[in-house]
Amino acid sequence: MKDLITLRDWSGDRIGRVLQLAADVKKDPSAFKEAMAQRTLLMIFEKPSLRTRLSFEAGMTQMGGHAIYYHTGNSPMGSGKESISDSMRAASRFVDLIMARLFKHRDLLEMASEATVPVINALTDDSHPCQILADLLSIQEKRGDLNGLKLAYVGDGFNNVTHSLMTGGTKLGMHVAVASPPGESFMPRADVTEGCHGFAEKSGGSILVTESAEEAVLDADVIYTDSWMSYHIPEDQEAERIALFMPYQVNQALLAHAKPDALFMNCLPARRGCEQTAEVIDGPQSIVFDQAENRLHAQKAVMLDLLSAT
Ligand code: CP
Ligand code: NVA
Repeated sequence: MKDLITLRDWSGDRIGRVLQLAADVKKDPSAFKEAMAQRTLLMIFEKPSLRTRLSFEAGMTQMGGHAIYYHTGNSPMGSGKESISDSMRAASRFVDLIMARLFKHRDLLEMASEATVPVINALTDDSHPCQILADLLSIQEKRGDLNGLKLAYVGDGFNNVTHSLMTGGTKLGMHVAVASPPGESFMPRADVTEGCHGFAEKSGGSILVTESAEEAVLDADVIYTDSWMSYHIPEDQEAERIALFMPYQVNQALLAHAKPDALFMNCLPARRGCEQTAEVIDGPQSIVFDQAENRLHAQKAVMLDLLSAT
C-alpha cells in the first residue's frame, strides 16, 4: 500500500510500527534531520487548516525537505480547468509525496490511483487518519499500552475524526464507545461501525454505539470530542446543531462518569461552551495541546514510513 488513505487499509501492526517511529522521532529529532533531504511534499488544501498544514510543513523542514502549500482555489484543478487525473500525473513528476485535505473522499481515492507517488489523507468527509495517529501516540505516552483501554467519543458521530478513531482504536484492542444523537446524519456511518466490530473481534477490543453520553463515558480512560460545526457544515445549521448536540457536551458532570484520572482530548479547533466547557478543556485532565504537538511527530513518521526513508 503506497498511500495513507484510511486506517482501514493499514494493519494494526503497521499502525503500531508508525507509532513507534513517531515516538523515536519525537525523542531524537536530530537523528532524522537529513531524512527528507531533496524531497518535496505537495500539500493540497480545499479546506482551512492550522495544525495539519503546520505539522506537515514544519515536519518537512525539520527533516531537511521542502513542502509546497497549494490551495485549490488557485489551481487549474480547483477551477475545473484540469482533471484530477492530469493534475496528479503531472504533479507526480515534480514531487515525492502528496497530501490532500478534500471535501470528497472519492476525489482522494482518484488522486491516489492516478498519482505515482504516495498520497496522504489530510482529512476528507470520510476520515482523518493522520489526526488519529497523533491521538494514539498521545494516549500511549500518558497511559502506556493501548490494548484494553476504554475510549469514549461524545458528540457528532457522523464525522471523519470519529470514524478514524473507531477504526484505529479497535484495530489496537481498545474499547471504543461512541455517543451521539440518533439518526444517520449524526451517528457513525453504519459500514464503519460494522467494520470496527470485525477489527475488535480480532484485536480483543470492542465497539459500542449509543445515544447515551453517560453510558459511553462510564469508566472511560479517555474522553474525546470534536467540533459540532466541522469545516463542511453550513453556518445556517449552527443553531439547530448546538441545540441537538448540547446533551453531549463534555462538562464536569459528564466527566464524573469516567475514571477519575480520565484524559480529555479534542483534535481542535475547539469551541468553549459547545462541545466542551472551558473548565474541561482548560482543566487538569485536558491533554489537547500535547495532542496537537504530536501531530508533528506523527506526521513525520507517516512521511518516513511512506518513503521508507528510515
Ligand atoms: N486537527 C486538525 O486537523 O486541525 P486543523 O484543521 O487546524 O488542521
Ligand atoms: N471534524 C472536523 C475535524 C477538524 C480537524 C472537520 O471535519 O472539520
